[in-house]
Parts: sequence; structure tokens; C-alpha cells
Amino acid sequence: MSVGWLEVVVATLFISIVVSLILARGRHWLEPGFWKIAAVITSSVMAITLVLLTVDTSRQISMGSKRVPSPSVINREIGYVYDAERMAMVPALGKEVGLFGRVWSEEEAEKLVTKGKLVIQSRNCMDCHTLLGNGAYYAPDLTKAWLDPKWEKQLMPMTGAKTREEAMRAFLMNPDKYPTWVRRMPNLKLSEDEAMAVVAYLKWMSTIDTNGFPANFPEVKVSQ
Ligand code: HEC
Repeated sequence: MSVGWLEVVVATLFISIVVSLILARGRHWLEPGFWKIAAVITSSVMAITLVLLTVDTSRQISMGSKRVPSPSVINREIGYVYDAERMAMVPALGKEVGLFGRVWSEEEAEKLVTKGKLVIQSRNCMDCHTLLGNGAYYAPDLTKAWLDPKWEKQLMPMTGAKTREEAMRAFLMNPDKYPTWVRRMPNLKLSEDEAMAVVAYLKWMSTIDTNGFPANFPEVKVSQ
């Protein structure tokens, strides 16, 4: 059985009530002492639950966990499919295809993805975009940007690039030259290396299982 928020809430309330009743037995429920015990026990149980949930969350959001793949995932083909049981879109990993014409080792991939993150922070992309839902709402959320069909449909023909990653790099280096939307992205003067790192970061981020966020993203099949 998987433990969800409902189980945690029910268990926490159940333990608080049972332990409070045991420790306050013999006291009338209108006595202040009864409620003092109930308050101390409930606060303690809630505090312990919060610590356990924090530890569990840190484990689940660390790189290399089930929901947040390690950076070398940038070498794989990335899909996005509907999981009927969870009623959500989830990332799917396909065969090894490499990125920018090569396969990156775990260390190289980590360096590249980390650099991509630093480039994004240095240019404050969140002034306009959201990443994992954080940031501004001027431009599209970038969580699943790698999976956007527009790279193949529009940007590859516009830039003449042969692969999706090259089309993304070309766009990121000259976004003002390749507009595809009502609002335009300014040229942030990314170097070729910086744009490449951002592409790797965005590809890695698209593999994070975000329970289907952002909504209405199209399905992408992969050959497994
Ligand atoms: C001043 C606002 C602004 C800033 C800052 C900005 N962008 Fe954009 N970005 C946009 C707009 C507007 C679009 C849509 C442009 C289009 O489609 O022609 C866009 C589109 C994109 C797309 C395509 C998304 C998709 O799926 O359609 C990517 C990827 C992207 N930006 C990455 C970045 C990165 C990385 C940075 C920081 C280095 C950044 N942007 C900074 C405004 C901004």
C-alpha cells in the first residue's frame, strides 16, 4: 500500500487522540488538565510527523531518486505518457540516443546540467518563465520545454537544425530571430556552451515526475 496524504492525516489524528485519551484517563473532558494533555500530545505527534515528512520529501526530490532521475538521463530518449492508474502524465525513458552527438558520462552530465542551472540563474530566466511552477507568468513554463512539439514542427525548419537539441540551442542563442509566439524572448547573449548546457538542463528537467505538471502537455511516445 502506498502512503498518501490521507493515510498520514488519519494516522496522525488517530495516534494523537488515542495517546491523549490514554494519558488523560480519569479526567473529566471539561477539566483544563484534559485539554492541556491533548494539546501537548497533538503538537508533539504533529511535530514528529513533520520531521518524518521532511526527511521523506528530501529523499524523493534528490537527484537519482525514482522521480528525479540522475543527470545521465540526458543521454536517453524522453517520452511523456498517460498513466491511467495515477491519472497523470508521467515521463517515460526510451533508448540511449545521446545529446549533441555524444553520450555523456555520469560526471560529465552532472557538470553540464549544473552549468545549465547556473546559466539560467545568472540570466534570471525566472523573471519571465516558470521552472517547476516557480517564477513569472510572462512566458511559457519550462519544466517540459524539451518535450514541446514546436522544436520539430517549427524550430527545426526555421533554424535548419538536424536535431531537437540543435534547434533549441539555435533558438536560445538567437530567440529574437526565431519568434513563434505573440510575445518575443529577448536575446540574452548566451554563448554556444551556455546554450548547450541550458538544453541539457531542460532535457534533464523534463524527466522529473511532476504529477503531470504543467497540464495539457501533449503525449510523446518513445521506443523502449
Ligand atoms: C524578458 C522575458 C524572457 C526572459 C528573461 C527569458 N525568456 Fe525565454 N521566452 C520568452 C518568451 C516571450 C518566449 C516565447 C517566445 C517564442 O515562442 O517566440 C520564450 C520562450 C522560451 C523557450 C521556448 C519554450 C517553449 O516550449 O515554447 C525556451 C526554452 C526559453 N524561452 C528559455 C529561456 C531561458 C533558458 C532563459 C534564460 C537564459 C529565458 N528563456 C529568458 C521570454 C523570456
